[in-house]
Amino acid sequence: MSSPYDAIAELYDPWSASVVEDVGFYLEEARRSGGPVVELGVGTGRIAVPIAADGIRVIGIDSSRAMLDVCAQRAALAGVEVDLRVGDLRHPPVAERVPLVICPFRSLLHLHSDDDRRQALASVRALLVPGGRFVFDVFTPGAEDIAQTHDRWLEREPGIFERAVWDETARTLTLTVRGPDGETTMALAWLSPGEWRALLEETGFEVEACYGWFDRTPFTGGDDSVWTARRGL
Ligand SMILES: C[S@@+](CC[C@H](N)C(=O)[O-])C[C@H]1O[C@@H](n2cnc3c(N)ncnc32)[C@H](O)[C@@H]1O
Repeated sequence: MSSPYDAIAELYDPWSASVVEDVGFYLEEARRSGGPVVELGVGTGRIAVPIAADGIRVIGIDSSRAMLDVCAQRAALAGVEVDLRVGDLRHPPVAERVPLVICPFRSLLHLHSDDDRRQALASVRALLVPGGRFVFDVFTPGAEDIAQTHDRWLEREPGIFERAVWDETARTLTLTVRGPDGETTMALAWLSPGEWRALLEETGFEVEACYGWFDRTPFTGGDDSVWTARRGL
């Protein structure tokens, strides 16, 4: 299994260094569930390691072996264990049933068709115990964001550049990331919040909340949406 993240596994943490606003939110959800927690698209453990450090078991799935290697190093440095498994979030290699599945930092945007999204959501549902919850965040770019960033190299962190090429008709973003030690290009696809809600309901979830930010402010429009959904009966 190869992944566009393999080439930037060492760059990922410096690239996402300023993304901290979601960590407390997911940690709170993990505490509330009691664990174990499955994280789909666990990456380098930005969220999983703090949860594991809180004493909650985490099973982390990712299609990038290189990202998982960095995650294992990060967990070792923190003195915690995360159960890391290479796999696709549409078919997560998890036999356990858990009270919480999370998919932070827009990882669902790596799925490009409704069939793939339905497959992923059906798999999440199957992983959850009755009453279990799925918590994730996605984004839906606004016209202003697109206009400001389209096809421009922007320095996101010192020495780390990214270029976003937006296709508003196909609703895809082609994102290139370049740093001193690596470069990659990845394709993301977005939906409207209404479409996410419809897919959740269609696949057997009851939407509990749709927030506009990680402080649990209700969604009233804007680029980010943060969802909590309960497995329906
Ligand atoms: C934006 S990163 C998020 C990483 C981590 N959750 C975080 O919050 O920092 C997206 C992650 O999803 C993984 N990913 C992308 N597509 C995937 C797929 N189909 N199955 C499993 N993992 C996938 C990538 O390898 C990457 O590690």
